[in-house]
Amino acid sequence: MEQVRKHESNVRGYSRSFPVTFTSANGAVIHDTDHKQYIDFLAGAGALNYGHNNPFFKMKLMDYIDKNGVTHGLDLSTEAKEHFIQIFNKYILEPRELKYKMQFTGPTGTNTVEAAIKLAQIVTGRTNIITFTNGYHGHSKGALRLTANAHYRKGLENELNQFTTFIPYFGFLDGDFDSADYLDKILSDSGSGTDIPAAIILETIQGEGGVNVAPKEWLQKLRKITEKHDILMIVDDIQVGCGRTGNFFSFEDAGIYPDMVTLSKSLSGYGLPMSLLLIKPEIDDWKPGQHTGTFRGNNLAFVTAAEAIIKYWKDDEFTQEIKGKSAKLLRILNQIGEDHKDIIKDVRGKGLIAAVECTDAETASSITAEAFSNGLIIETCGSDGNIIKFLPPLNIHENYLNEGIKIFEKAIETIKQAELA
Ligand SMILES: Cc1ncc(COP(=O)(O)O)c(C=O)c1O
Repeated sequence: MEQVRKHESNVRGYSRSFPVTFTSANGAVIHDTDHKQYIDFLAGAGALNYGHNNPFFKMKLMDYIDKNGVTHGLDLSTEAKEHFIQIFNKYILEPRELKYKMQFTGPTGTNTVEAAIKLAQIVTGRTNIITFTNGYHGHSKGALRLTANAHYRKGLENELNQFTTFIPYFGFLDGDFDSADYLDKILSDSGSGTDIPAAIILETIQGEGGVNVAPKEWLQKLRKITEKHDILMIVDDIQVGCGRTGNFFSFEDAGIYPDMVTLSKSLSGYGLPMSLLLIKPEIDDWKPGQHTGTFRGNNLAFVTAAEAIIKYWKDDEFTQEIKGKSAKLLRILNQIGEDHKDIIKDVRGKGLIAAVECTDAETASSITAEAFSNGLIIETCGSDGNIIKFLPPLNIHENYLNEGIKIFEKAIETIKQAELA
């Protein structure tokens, strides 16, 4: 930590909440320089759905490196890329009857969001994009326009407030207010002051924004409204795609077919940078090289990504496993919520993303700090920082899941006792 503390920019984040130096990691656990073990419920903020150093993918990766497989290939066709495309079509798209073209963007999720909004604007000839309260889509200036949290927007507001209309996400307002109806109204009424947008972009579960889960009926309604007004629908599945909700795509339960889908984080399976924009063929209006970049073909990531799909997504066994663990996690967290109503306002989630909403940010951060000192890595989220987010690897062994939850519950008890003392 010494070098990091002294020389890394003030912008550093996670190393402040978890101030140790990590050395090795395996599955759901990670170790520090004192050989202390931590159960990892942060999982690379959703980039490690299959755990650290997954042995199946590691073997393939080492073989590929050993035989001098192409590592960097711009967007050239390589054997690794050919293989990934074939596997992704065969096991992910075709069984779901989804016909998408694939755009490999720069390696960050943010770059995929940039590509999606650029393409939406090119295709429709419109500039405005509709996004949602508490949405999170990344930090380049285009993506940041769509991101709600004031902390991230600070100092850039004047530039960011162009070409974007924020509307309330499901549940943002209390009572019966339905923001899908509101969207329909502002698009239908020329007195609304809202320019007809190129697209709407949304997460089906807002990850960074506080684990806000949109019901499938609301998503279906949004899809109908976008079709009615000839607006593109972009689903940002960067955090809750790749199996996080139980299905490979987070929108599968809703049975909707978005015009574009962004994927990143756990797509490579191994924590290697890789991003993919899925585009309906009829709107693939890019000119060759129009959204380019040096690192669009991470061949090491293609190797592990193909292996992840072959290992986990050939049939629905993994989906059943995730749903089983999810039911258990939510049942126990709901019980913890009942037992500690004085500091827990709400428990929610879907698949293996869950939230415990505390009364305030200080309580949430005391709990996560106490949990960390007892060997659990877990973060807070939401614009007020009062929500504790559970994001364990999807293939976590039941023992680690149980142990992690126990550490969490004990942390609550400890901080409550400390308050009483
Ligand atoms: C839904 C969503 N979109 C976009 C991003 C940005 O991805 P990246 O951090 O890889 O640029 C994130 C990152 O957390 C995300 O959760």
